[in-house]
Amino acid sequence: MLQDYPIATSTRRAAVPCTLETERLLLRRPTLADVSAIARLANDRRIAEHTRRLPYPYSQDHAVAFVRTMADDGQAITFLIEHNYVPVGVTSIEWREACEPELGYWLGVDHWGQGFGTEAARAVIDHFFEQDDVGHLHAGARVANPASRNVLEKCGFQWSGVELHRFEALGSSAPVDRFRLSRSVWSSLKNWASSTRREG
Ligand SMILES: CC(C)(COP(=O)(O)OP(=O)(O)OC[C@H]1O[C@@H](n2cnc3c(N)ncnc32)[C@H](O)[C@@H]1OP(=O)(O)O)[C@@H](O)C(=O)NCCC(=O)NCCS
Repeated sequence: MLQDYPIATSTRRAAVPCTLETERLLLRRPTLADVSAIARLANDRRIAEHTRRLPYPYSQDHAVAFVRTMADDGQAITFLIEHNYVPVGVTSIEWREACEPELGYWLGVDHWGQGFGTEAARAVIDHFFEQDDVGHLHAGARVANPASRNVLEKCGFQWSGVELHRFEALGSSAPVDRFRLSRSVWSSLKNWASSTRREG
C-alpha cells in the first residue's frame, strides 16, 4: 500500500519498536498474528469510504500485505489499537511528502462512539512531537465525515483548506477538509492540560 512513497526524512523512526499506552488503549506494532483481526475490522464500507487507500472489500491478503509493508516501511509508523487486548483499529503517521507527516486512523465500526478515536490520536500525536523535531502534523477528513473532523479539532488541529482526494473504495474523488497541528499549539494544549490536572 505504501511502497511508492518517496524516501522521507524520518525513516529512522519506523524501525524503532514502540508501544504506547493510554488510559484505556494499548497501541503497538501490528504483526502477522493480527491479520485476521485487521481483515475482520477493516472489511466494512463505512470505514473504507472515509479512508483514502483502504480497499473494499478488504481481504486477509490485504491485511497480510499491510502488515508486511508496515514491517519494513520507512515512510510510516503504524500502530494497532487494542482495547482490553482486543484489536479495535489502526492509526499511523505517514511521510508521503517528506515535509508533510500525516496522521491517519480508523476503528472497527463496533468500536465507534466511545472516544477511542480521540484517545488513540492524542497518543500518536504526543509520540510524534516528542520523538520528532518536525514543526507540523497534517491530517484530512472528508467533508462528509464529522466524526473525524471532531477528533482532529479535539486534538487541536486547525482547518487549513479543502482539497480533492481520490478514495480507492469510492473509485472517485471527494472533497477533503485539510487540517494542521503546529508544535506550538500542541505544546500549549499539553501545558494547559497538565496545569488543569494540577489544579484539580
Ligand atoms: C473517525 C473515527 C476514528 C472516530 O472514532 P470514534 O472513536 O468514534 O470517535 P470519538 O468517539 O473519539 O468521537 C469524536 C467526536 O466526534 C463525535 N462524533 C462521532 N460520530 C459523529 C457523527 N457521525 N457526527 C457528528 N459527530 C460525531 C463524537 O461525539 C465525539 O465528540 P464529543 O467527544 O464532543 O462527543 C471513526 O468514526 C472511524 O473509524 N471512521 C471511519 C474511518 C475514518 O473516518 N477515519 C478517519 C479518516 S480521516
